[in-house]
Amino acid sequence: MMKIPFLDLMTPHLELEEELVNVFRECLRTASFVGGSQVQGFEEEFAQFCETKYCVAVNSGTDAIRFALVAAGIGRGDEVITVPNTFIATTEAISQTGANVVFVDIDEKTYNMDPSKLEDFLKKRYALDAMRSALRPRAVLPVHLYGQCADMDAIREIADRYGLIVIEDACQAHGAQYFSKRENRWQKAASMGLAAAFSFYPGKNLGACGEGGAITTDDPEIARKVSMLRDHGQAKKYYHDFEGYNGRLDAIQAGFLRVKLKRLSEWNEKRRQNASRYNEILKSVDHIVTPYEPEWTKAVYHLYIIRTKKREELQKYLSEKGVNTGLHYPIPLHLQNAYQKSGLTNGNYPVTEKVAQEILSLPMFPQLTEQQILYVAEKIKEFASDLK
Ligand SMILES: Cc1ncc(COP(=O)(O)O)c(C=O)c1O
Repeated sequence: MMKIPFLDLMTPHLELEEELVNVFRECLRTASFVGGSQVQGFEEEFAQFCETKYCVAVNSGTDAIRFALVAAGIGRGDEVITVPNTFIATTEAISQTGANVVFVDIDEKTYNMDPSKLEDFLKKRYALDAMRSALRPRAVLPVHLYGQCADMDAIREIADRYGLIVIEDACQAHGAQYFSKRENRWQKAASMGLAAAFSFYPGKNLGACGEGGAITTDDPEIARKVSMLRDHGQAKKYYHDFEGYNGRLDAIQAGFLRVKLKRLSEWNEKRRQNASRYNEILKSVDHIVTPYEPEWTKAVYHLYIIRTKKREELQKYLSEKGVNTGLHYPIPLHLQNAYQKSGLTNGNYPVTEKVAQEILSLPMFPQLTEQQILYVAEKIKEFASDLK
């Protein structure tokens, strides 16, 4: 029996051990731990990768979302629209600005924000005299979940019409692309809204050897504000224009990220190849739904998600056969205890609720071998052939 991990964090780091240790040694020998040339170098290189004018490195994806929202002027009395099919960091960051979270449901095929649900929500919201309401929709925060871009042309068109700011949660989508008809070109996740937020949590497509995050933007004012927000509201040491946060990226992590960034395109390509290999084998298997990648996206498969009505059974079966899998995410955010007070219940976001019961994340990482993919796919076929 093969043993297949859900994620292999060892191999890429052992491959890069020399270079990573050199970064660490240089930081030790120059006593550079916070800020400095490593952080600046990483910001320049990641902005270039993302095709944006600016990148501001911070200490997590959660802070990246929060700082982007605060810099955009979002706060108490505002509503920020996002999806319930995401990691809680998305909504934590919104709530922590003082704004209210509003959910709209996802599309059943892409698992990302359904633009028609966004439109429906806004129509209703404005019909319900939003002018007299204490709250107002101010921003939309689409999540490029699993490494695939949300339908940004449609979302941006609606946002423009309703005067909403767009901020991308690109925490799972380093290098993902979207073909924008309105721009008539491929764009990277990171360059389609006022700002985008990235996470460099170790398991991400670009992961630090610890925590990290970044904001990308083309707007000089947003870049200036977020760089002050991450550093106690100061641009000059001990001159504080406003209260900020301690949200800086460590120099050592920035150096590690620079080493790994050089490999990101190659690793993303490997993930895409792995996904098409899984697709080839699984697409004709009864009871299994493989990922849908519309022609307007190039997903980077942070996660490879299949769906089946027999999810619990399949997960157990695979586990018995030595295959580790994951659930992203088992409980939609609106049904989490953390949001009990919102009064939202089962039935409010039916697509998310249905999908949450059927999704299963298969092993996905660049170093996954052909043999491992064949083994996982073979076990799934075996399982499905026993179903009626
Ligand atoms: C969709 C999404 N948003 C936000 C975050 C938060 O990032 P971090 O864990 O770096 O704070 C993550 C990562 O876990 C994520 O997957």
